[in-house]
Amino acid sequence: MTDAQAGSAQFPQVRPRRLRSTPAMRRLVAETQVSPAQLVLPLFVLEGAREPTPIAAMPGQVQHTRDSLRATVAQAAATGLGGVMLFGVPLRRDAEGSGATDPDGVLNTALRDVVAEVGDALVVQADLCLDEFTDHGHCGVLDGAGRVDNDATLDRYRTMALAQAEAGAHLLGLSGMMDGQVGAVRQALDAAGRDDVAVLAYAAKYASAFYGPFREAVASTLVGNRRSYQLDPANRRDGVREARLDIAEGADVVMVKPASGYLDVLAAVAAVSEVPVWAYQVSGEYSMVEAAAANGWIERRPAIEESVLGIRRAGADAVLTYWALELAGWLREVR
Ligand code: PBG
Repeated sequence: MTDAQAGSAQFPQVRPRRLRSTPAMRRLVAETQVSPAQLVLPLFVLEGAREPTPIAAMPGQVQHTRDSLRATVAQAAATGLGGVMLFGVPLRRDAEGSGATDPDGVLNTALRDVVAEVGDALVVQADLCLDEFTDHGHCGVLDGAGRVDNDATLDRYRTMALAQAEAGAHLLGLSGMMDGQVGAVRQALDAAGRDDVAVLAYAAKYASAFYGPFREAVASTLVGNRRSYQLDPANRRDGVREARLDIAEGADVVMVKPASGYLDVLAAVAAVSEVPVWAYQVSGEYSMVEAAAANGWIERRPAIEESVLGIRRAGADAVLTYWALELAGWLREVR
């Protein structure tokens, strides 16, 4: 064998680039797809609002009025989204978070409005947590020493779950990170004859700086942090453990949150879960891209598409994202 033959028998005989040659070829071999049905749009509704109020830290997002909320969910249904996740911003807050369990509280009212608008054309979901409703801003009620009281909070969650079910929610998003919350809410729903209402467990919810812009979105009053109940960003095993526990307690869906910084946790949970696994692309993930794009530092649309694709590729069956409507619109275009 001559040197020339030896050389040609070497590289590059394997040419992965063949499958990247044209848009049609790339589309045909793409392993991961994003479809509108896999997207859930989080929405904020502000009690008593007369005009939608822009959220400065989340350009393009607003605190809705009852009317603008209805219009947006109608659009979400027409666009084929999988669902909407509602957050209420009340005018009054107290230590117990009474507004959360008041049938006429902002979130329960919004749920009734939304269900009246779209029926079951969308999966109507509600944040089940006390932080928007407590004056101290924590996700649960406090004990005498000012600590978040796990089991007293479970009682509040049970009542809140029944109020949300009564208001018409299809899926309850348990985001408070109290131990035993999934089992407690499941039991309360079943005992009340509401075994039809599903539970989404924010199973692996990390104590993240990337929730920063959300604080403005819900006018959070929190002083301090949530590190005594949300997961330590250092820990992957704990995320998988929480998901397993929530599945054992009856979660219909488990979620990892935030998404981008936690794709390893997402993949690990997806590898062991027997129920659907979702991910929440949180406010900070949204605002970073929007800010960079506004400065001309990043190309907005491909950055958004890539960010959600990456979350799907890591193992998310569905993604909560503030870009759900806009992204779904793009996905309808033939590329
Ligand atoms: C708690 C809740 C939070 C988010 C969703 N549900 C805030 C927190 O835990 O501090 C954050 C969502 C986001 O940042 O987009 N009710």
